[in-house]
Amino acid sequence: MFPVVRPRRLRRTAPLRRLVAGTRLHPAELILPLFVKEGITEAQPVRSMPGVVQHTRDSLREAVVEAAEAGVGGVILFGIPARKDARGSGADDPEGIVQVALADVRKEAGEALVVMADTCLDEYTDHGHCGVLTAAGEVDNDATLERYASAAVAQARAGAHVVAPSGMMDGQVGAIRAALDTDGFAEIPILSYSAKYASAFFGPFRDAAECAPQFGDRNAYQQDPAGPIGEALREVRLDLEEGADAVMIKPAMAYLDIIRQVRDMVEVPVAAYQVSGEYAMVEAAAANGWLDRDRVIMESLVAIKRAGADMIMSYWATEVARKLA
Ligand code: PBG
Repeated sequence: MFPVVRPRRLRRTAPLRRLVAGTRLHPAELILPLFVKEGITEAQPVRSMPGVVQHTRDSLREAVVEAAEAGVGGVILFGIPARKDARGSGADDPEGIVQVALADVRKEAGEALVVMADTCLDEYTDHGHCGVLTAAGEVDNDATLERYASAAVAQARAGAHVVAPSGMMDGQVGAIRAALDTDGFAEIPILSYSAKYASAFFGPFRDAAECAPQFGDRNAYQQDPAGPIGEALREVRLDLEEGADAVMIKPAMAYLDIIRQVRDMVEVPVAAYQVSGEYAMVEAAAANGWLDRDRVIMESLVAIKRAGADMIMSYWATEVARKLA
C-alpha cells in the first residue's frame, strides 16, 4: 500500500486557497465599454443587455466617474450619431458625438483612467458595415483605411488616450499609425482588435450601437470561427509589424485557446473582450434563476485572465471593480 496523494490538502480552507490562487483579478486591468448617443435627453436601456444603457453626454460622464472611483483601468467609447450616411461621416466629424464625448470624459476623469475610442465605421454608416462600399456593395478595404485614419486622428484630437481599431481591414494599424504620427500624435498607442471573429455573440451589441448590417454579414472581414488558428496568429503578427502597441482577441470565452496562443507568442499586452452576447447570456439565465449571476461573472473573468489576457473589456467592469476593492 502507498500513502494516498492528497492535492486536496491545499484546498481545505479559504486562507489556503487564497494563498495558492494563481489567478487574481484587479480593477486596473478592467476596461468598461460605454455607448453614447447623440440627441437623446435621457439614457436609453438596451433591450438585449439589461443593465446597459445608451448614454447621454451627461449620464456618460457620471458613468465614467463611477468607473474611475471603483478603480477601473479604462473606458472605451462607442458613439451613435443622430444621422448616418454611406461614408460614416460622424466617425471623424470634430463635432461628432464620440468626439465631443471623448473630450467630456477626458476632462472629467482623464487623469484617473485611460480613455479609449473604438475606431470603426459601423456605428456611423447607414448600411451598417465597418467600411465604405464599392459600387458592387462590397467593403472597399483600402478606401476604408483612409476613413479609419481620419477617424483615429479626430479621436486623438478630441482627447482619446488610446485608439482601438475594430474593423478587421487589412493594413488598418499601419494606416492609422502613419496618420497619427503625421498629425502630431506619435505618442498615442494603438490597441488593435487583431483577432476578431465573425461572431453571433455580437448580437446584442448591434442593438446597443444600432449598427446591424442592413444587408449581408461581416464574414468577409471578420474571421471565421472555424478558420485556421494560424490565421489569428498571422493577424496578430501583422498588426505588430504595422505598429500595434497592444492586441485584442474578441469574443473572449469562446476563444480562450486563441488568447492563450497569442499570449505565448507576443511580448505586448494582450486584451480580451467579453462581448455583449457573453453578458446577455449570463444576465438572461440569472434573471430566470438558472445560475448564480455573481459567481458566473467572476468565474468567466478568471477564466479569461487565466487564458492569458492582461486586460479585459467587460460590461461588468465597474460592478466587478467594486467587488474586488
Ligand atoms: C465594431 C464593433 C463591434 C463590437 C465592438 N466593436 C460589433 C461588430 O463587429 O459587429 C462588438 C462588441 C460586443 O459585442 O460587445 N465597431
